[in-house]
Amino acid sequence: LPKTVKRICCIGAGYVGGPTCAVIAKQNPDIQVTVVDLSEARIAAWKSTALPIFEPDLYEIVEVARDGTDGRRPNLHFSTDIATAIDEADLIFIAVNTPTKTAGLGAGKASNLAYVESAARMIAEAATSDKIVVEKSTVPCGTADSLRTIFAALAPHLAFDILSNPEFLAEGTAINDLLNPDRILIGSLKDAKSKSAAEALAQVYNWVPRNRIVTVNIWSSELAKLAANCMLAQRISSINSLSAICEATGAEIEELAQVVGLDVRIGGRMLKASAGFGGSCFKKDVLSLVYIAESLHLEEVALHWKSVVDLNEYQKGRFARRITRALHNTLANKRIAILGWAYKKNTRDTRESAAITIAGQLIAEGAQLAIYDPLVSEKQIFDDLESACPNASSSVKVYPDASAACIDACAVVIMTEWDEFKTDYAGSPTFGGMANSSTDDHHLTSTSTSASSDSGIDMQDDPSEKSAVLPAPGIDDNPNYSTKRIDWRHIAAVVRRPRLVFDGRNVVDSDMLASLGFRVQSIGKAD
Ligand code: NAD
Ligand code: UGA
Repeated sequence: LPKTVKRICCIGAGYVGGPTCAVIAKQNPDIQVTVVDLSEARIAAWKSTALPIFEPDLYEIVEVARDGTDGRRPNLHFSTDIATAIDEADLIFIAVNTPTKTAGLGAGKASNLAYVESAARMIAEAATSDKIVVEKSTVPCGTADSLRTIFAALAPHLAFDILSNPEFLAEGTAINDLLNPDRILIGSLKDAKSKSAAEALAQVYNWVPRNRIVTVNIWSSELAKLAANCMLAQRISSINSLSAICEATGAEIEELAQVVGLDVRIGGRMLKASAGFGGSCFKKDVLSLVYIAESLHLEEVALHWKSVVDLNEYQKGRFARRITRALHNTLANKRIAILGWAYKKNTRDTRESAAITIAGQLIAEGAQLAIYDPLVSEKQIFDDLESACPNASSSVKVYPDASAACIDACAVVIMTEWDEFKTDYAGSPTFGGMANSSTDDHHLTSTSTSASSDSGIDMQDDPSEKSAVLPAPGIDDNPNYSTKRIDWRHIAAVVRRPRLVFDGRNVVDSDMLASLGFRVQSIGKAD
C-alpha cells in the first residue's frame, strides 16, 4: 500500500512553491504543508497580508489554509527553519530556481543546478528518516540521477524515493491552472517502491481527475517539461516570424492565426503574435534543451531549438526598429510612453520582459521614456533597466498612471496586454473613459480578446482567464488595476501629433483609435 503523506515540506517559496503549496494545503486539510526559503524577507511576506508575489485569487487560497478562515486548523506554514521542516516531512518538494548558468561550462545555455543541489544537500543533512523527494523545479534530463548520487553519498543509511513532478502553471493564471490542470505529470522509476511513492504523491492531487494524472518514467518526465515549454515558445516564434511577412505583404496576422488555429491539429492557443515572449522560463528552458542537444552532439537539433530564441530576439529588435523608423530614425530627446512593463498581464513579474530589451534599444537611440505599469513598482523598473542598460536612469521616468505618462509623447508603445489598455472590453458602449464600477464583473468574465474586433477572432480562447476574480484588498499596490480603463480620448488630447501608437500586443482596435486621430501600428499588420 502506498504511504499516506501527512507532512509536506516545500523548499523554495517562489512563484511555483508558494501558489502550488497553497493549493495543495487548501485541498488537503489533513496534510500539514510547510514552505521554506533561505530568504527571510520572502517568508515574512508570505506570512503577511502583502504576499511576495501577485496572482489573481492567490490571497483567498492562502487565507483559508494559512489562517484557517474556513474554520480548519491552519495547515499552511511558512518558515526559514529549513532543517526542521525537512526532518518532519514525509514528502519534500524541491521548487527552487534553475536559472541559466552565467559562468563556467555551458554558460549562457545550461541550467544552473546549484540551488537544486544545495536543496538536496540540506535534505541529506537534515533528514533522520526515509523521505519521498520530488523535483518540482524544471531540470535537465538526468537530474534525478545526480540527486540519487548526493543522497547515497551523504545519507546512505536512509532511503530516498526520487520523483519528478514538474509544474505547468503559467503566471497570471496560476491558481486556475493549479485547480484545473491539463495534466499532473509524475515520473518515477519502474520498481514497486518508486511506484508506491508515485501513488502517494498522486493522492496529494486529490482534486484532479485520475485520468489527468499521467505517470511516466522519470527521464521522460524531466524531458517532457522542457519539451512542453520549448514547443509553446516555438509556436510564438513561429507566429511572430509570420508577423514579419504579414507586415510586408498586407496579410494580417490575427486572421492568419485564426485560420491556422482552426485546424484542430494545430489549435488556436499560444498563437498570439507579440513584440516577443518574456518570462523567466521560455528562454532558459529552450536554451537548456539546446545545451542538452549540443552535449549529445546533436547539432541540427540544437540549431532547431536555438532558432526559437534567436527569432524572439529578432522580433524584439524588429519592433524597436519599427518605432525608430516611424520617428524618422532619430529618437534623440523624443518622449516615448511605454505602457506596461510586466512580461504578461496579471503578474508583477518582469523577468525577461520584452519591455526591458525594447526600452534599452530605444534609450540607446536617445529616447526619453515615460513608463507606466499598473502593478510593477518604480524600483523594479529601475532595477531591470540598471542590469539591462546601465546609466539608463536619466532617460527614464516612471508614472503612476497612463495618461500622465502619455503627456507630450511622440509615440505610445504598448508592451503588456493589461486590460486597462484595451479598447474592446465588455460593458463599454463606447470606449475610453474610466470604467465605471458596474462594468467590473463583466470585464472580468470576458475572454481575452484580440484587437481584431472586425474579424471577431478570439485567438486566446483561454478558459483559465474567465475565472479571474478581484484580488483581496490590501495585497495589491493598485487595487483598481483590473477595472481601470485608459481614456483614449484623453490620451489623444495630450500626445503629440501624429499620435503614433505601437501596439506590441495587438490589444487596441486600430480602427477605433484611428477615429480618434491616432495612427496605430500593430504587430503583423502593414502600416
Ligand atoms: P523563484 O526564483 O520565484 O523561487 C525560487 C525560490 O527558491 C527563491 O525564493 C529562493 O530564495 C529559493 N531557494 C533557492 N535555493 C534554496 C535553498 N537551497 N533552500 C531554500 N530556498 C532556496 O523561482 P520560480 O519562478 O518559483 O521557479 C522555480 C522552478 O519552477 C524553476 O525551475 C522554474 O523553471 C520552474 N517553473 C516556474 C514557473 C513559473 O511560472 N515561474 C512555472 C513552472 C515551472
Ligand atoms: C509558461 C508556460 O505557459 C507554462 O505552462 C509553464 O509552466 C511556465 O512557462 C514555466 O515553466 O515557467 P508563463 O511564462 O508564465 O508560462 O506564461 P505564458 O502565458 O506562457 O507566456 C509567456 C510569454 O509569451 C509572455 O510574455 C506572453 O505574453 C507571451 N505570449 C504568450 C505570446 O507572445 N503569445 C502567446 O500566444 C502566448
